[in-house]
Order: sequence, then structure tokens, then C-alpha cells
Amino acid sequence: MADRERWASRIGVILAMAGNAVGLGNFLRFPVQAAQNGGGAFMIPYFVALVLFGIPLAWCEWAMGRMGGAYRHGSAPGVFALLWKHPMAKYLGALGVCLPLGVLTYYLYVESWSLAYSMFAMMWDLFGVRSMDSLRAFLTAYQGGGTRIGVSLIAWVFFLITIGINYWVMTGGIARGIERLARVGMPLLFVLAFVLTVRVFTLSPPAGAGPDQTVREGLGFVWNPDLGMLRSGKVWLAAAGQVFFTLSVGFGAIQCYASYMRRRDDIIVTGLSASMMNEFVEVILGASIAIPAAVVFFGRAGTVDIARSGAFNLGFVAMPAIFQQMPVGALFGLMWFFLLFIAGVTSSVALAQPAVAFLEDELGWTHRRAVRAVWVALLVLGHVPILGFSAGALDEVDFWAGTIGLALFALIEAVVFLWVFGAERAWAEIHVGAEVRLPRALLYVLKYVTPTLLAVILAAWLWQDGWAYLTMRGVPAEQRVWRWVARVMLLGMLAITVALIRRAVRRPGAAVPEATS
Ligand code: ALA
Repeated sequence: MADRERWASRIGVILAMAGNAVGLGNFLRFPVQAAQNGGGAFMIPYFVALVLFGIPLAWCEWAMGRMGGAYRHGSAPGVFALLWKHPMAKYLGALGVCLPLGVLTYYLYVESWSLAYSMFAMMWDLFGVRSMDSLRAFLTAYQGGGTRIGVSLIAWVFFLITIGINYWVMTGGIARGIERLARVGMPLLFVLAFVLTVRVFTLSPPAGAGPDQTVREGLGFVWNPDLGMLRSGKVWLAAAGQVFFTLSVGFGAIQCYASYMRRRDDIIVTGLSASMMNEFVEVILGASIAIPAAVVFFGRAGTVDIARSGAFNLGFVAMPAIFQQMPVGALFGLMWFFLLFIAGVTSSVALAQPAVAFLEDELGWTHRRAVRAVWVALLVLGHVPILGFSAGALDEVDFWAGTIGLALFALIEAVVFLWVFGAERAWAEIHVGAEVRLPRALLYVLKYVTPTLLAVILAAWLWQDGWAYLTMRGVPAEQRVWRWVARVMLLGMLAITVALIRRAVRRPGAAVPEATS
């Protein structure tokens, strides 16, 4: 049997993991979540969730993955079978394959917009698009609003190009495809983000701006906490959801990347470095670009309105409107959208890898065949959020796969690793090859606090809002069909994954050995 692929270097692992985490979530989702949930008030539950769920669970995923890799299992079904000697174990891992694919069905579409807009950034004058209103109309037309089928030709072509780029990177495998992309992409991303941050910090307000339209006010909006908002459960759920999304925790993607490490490679310092790199990009750079720039140009209330008017309006309408009003704005516009594209592509390959690893490790497929199957499936399924975009299909997938699904799978992981496999064994596993030891108090946080809080958040959501969401209360009648199509798509993906797991379980030699720390 050929050796399992490995990362070529430690810095390569850190950059690839940081690339996995740093994504559209940092630059598009985070500022909108912050603006919609009280600005500074959002940051308190955000940091609490980061410390109690995000970073500790990321370490668990690194540990589970590195251990799985030693037994040639990189996806959640294989890893769970190592941790729990039970016929159900592999099936419990199904979410760790289909959640990242579910998120990818819409993530790729948004990623493709940023590729297209990198090009458009140089051409706004040519299109005669200058004002906020015309940029909003342009975005709607690009997204297919007003077309009979719901997608514009140009958006569809860029979607295909984006799929092609991802496919090409993944055919190169771990070291020659994904690691190389991260080695080039991540330093470039940092340079672009720094340049844009410096540019935003030196912005002058437009003529006629009010006294509160300053960068300082914009930063204050992100950082001054309004303690009254902390009583809102919705703010806490949004903050926890953002932490999972941004760190890529609860997707099965960290586990999968960690499975290509060596058995005794440190994961404590390496894992913390990757998580901190993500937080630096999100909280320092992500918070210093879109929101402060929007506050300077549109004021505090205007920024909240833009964020509330649509999830993508801050990034794809307000930002180009701002760039157009500054000298060499086309260049800054290009930098902003290309930054989004790099952030997107280094995450999308990570979200596709668990499915590729599942087909290779559990079903014995060749790398080429597995990559082809996954990308053909995404090419087909990606049309659901595209064609149903104006009916909210994208939001529906994001909610079930990208919010509830992540929290649920994170809870399952915490229970399997810390309660079924056992907290002491999990602790020992995290410390294999460790360069530093973690404070033991963290073990108790992981064992008791993390799963309890996660269960409480999920139960509270189910109790307060679950029925309303399930029955689509308040959703306009014309949106329901596409939202149901999105749900059926996700359930279908789950059913296919379960059927493939069944096939994997019945393969000769599929029995998994007892894992030892
Ligand atoms: N962690 C990735 C992001 O933030 C999925 O976009």
C-alpha cells in the first residue's frame, strides 16, 4: 500500500490550516455579524465562545485527525470508528463529510463573485457604474435578478472557472496542491490586507460628512461594548456560530488536514498558531477594513442599514462605492476582491478535502477519481443556491449546514472524543509530541463546560425558534419551494453519505484497529 500523503513542512501545515480558517467568513461574514448584532456588544460573546469552544475544540480536532492519519483515516467516519468501537460510530461521522460539502455548494458561488469583481474593479467607468444605487443594481443583475432562470451568464461562467481552479489545485494533492497554494496565497493575503488596512486608516471623509464619520468612530463601533445587548440570546448564538465558521471548527476540515501530519508532530503550538493567525486576520484586519471604511463614508447608522439590507452589500456594494471615490481606487478595489478570492479558495479546497479523504480512505478510490467525483457533485449541487438565490436558497443552506449543523457536529465530536473515547485518553492524545503542556483546567472546560454550553445553546434555539424555522414561519410563499429544494438537497447529501458509509463498512478488511495513544 502506498504511503499516505504528508505535508511537506511545518510552516506549510500552519499556512494551510490558516488558509482553511481564513476565508470569506473573516472579511464578509464577520463584519456583517458584528454590525447586525450590536458592534462592540458582539465582541464579548465572541471572545467567550473563542476561549470556551473555538480554540479548545480546534485542538481536539487536530488531535483526532493526527491520530486518524496514523491509521490511514482522515475523514470523520473513519476517525470516529477509531475512537468508538461501535457499529454506529462511522455513521455518526457522516455530518463531517456532508456539512463541509453543503457549505461549499454556496461558498463557491460567493467565491466566484470575488473573482469576477476583481476584474470588474478595473472597469466600473466602462460600465457607467458609480453610485451606491447603481452598484446595488449591478450586483442584483450579476446575481441573476430579473433573469428568467435566476443566474446571469457571466456569473455562471465565473462559477465554472472557480470550480476549475479548485479542481486543478486539488488534483495536485496535499503537498503539491493545497500546501503550495497556501504558501503563495497566505503571504499575499496578509500583504493585501495590511495595505488595505493602512489605506482605510488614512481615509478622509467625503465632502459634507458629519462629525461622526471618522475611522475612530468606525473602530469604536466594533470595539465599544454595549453591555445591554448581552442579555440577547440571539447575539450569543450569532457569536458562537461565527467562531465555529471562522475557525472551520465543526466541519471535519481541521481533522482532515491534521490527518496528513506525522504521529509525533506537535499540535498544541502549531494549532494555536493557525487559530491565532485566523483571529488576527478576522478581529484586527477584518474589523479594520469594511466597517471603519463604511462608517467614514456612510456614518454609523448608514453602515448598520447597509449590513441589514443584505449579507453581501457591505463587501460588494459599499466597498466598491468607497473605492471609486478615492485616487487609484480601481487598484484598491482589485486588491479587496482578490483578497476575498484568495481567502475563499484556500478555504474551499479545505472544505472539499474531507469528502475526498473519505472516498480514498474508506472506499479505496484513487485520488484522481475521488477529486473528480467530489467536484462533479459540487458542480451539479452548486446550482441549487445559484438558481434559488433570490428565493433564499443560499441562506437556507447557510443556516442548516453553516450554523446549526456546525454546532451540532461540534457537540457530537466533543461527546465522542471526551466522553466515549475518554477525557484522560483524549488529553494524552492532545499532548503526543507536545512542545508545551496545556493547563489541566482546560480538560475540565473541554469535558464539562464546552459540551454543556453547546447543548444549552442548541436546546434553547430548538425551544425558542426551532419550530418557526422548521415550518418557515414568516417566509414569503414564493420563497418556500426553493428553500425546500435546499433542504431536500442537504438531506439527500446526508442519505448518500450514509449509503457510502454502509458500503465502506461492508468492504473486506474494513475493521478498524483499537487506537492507542
Ligand atoms: N473558515 C472559513 C471561513 O471563514 C470557512 O470562511
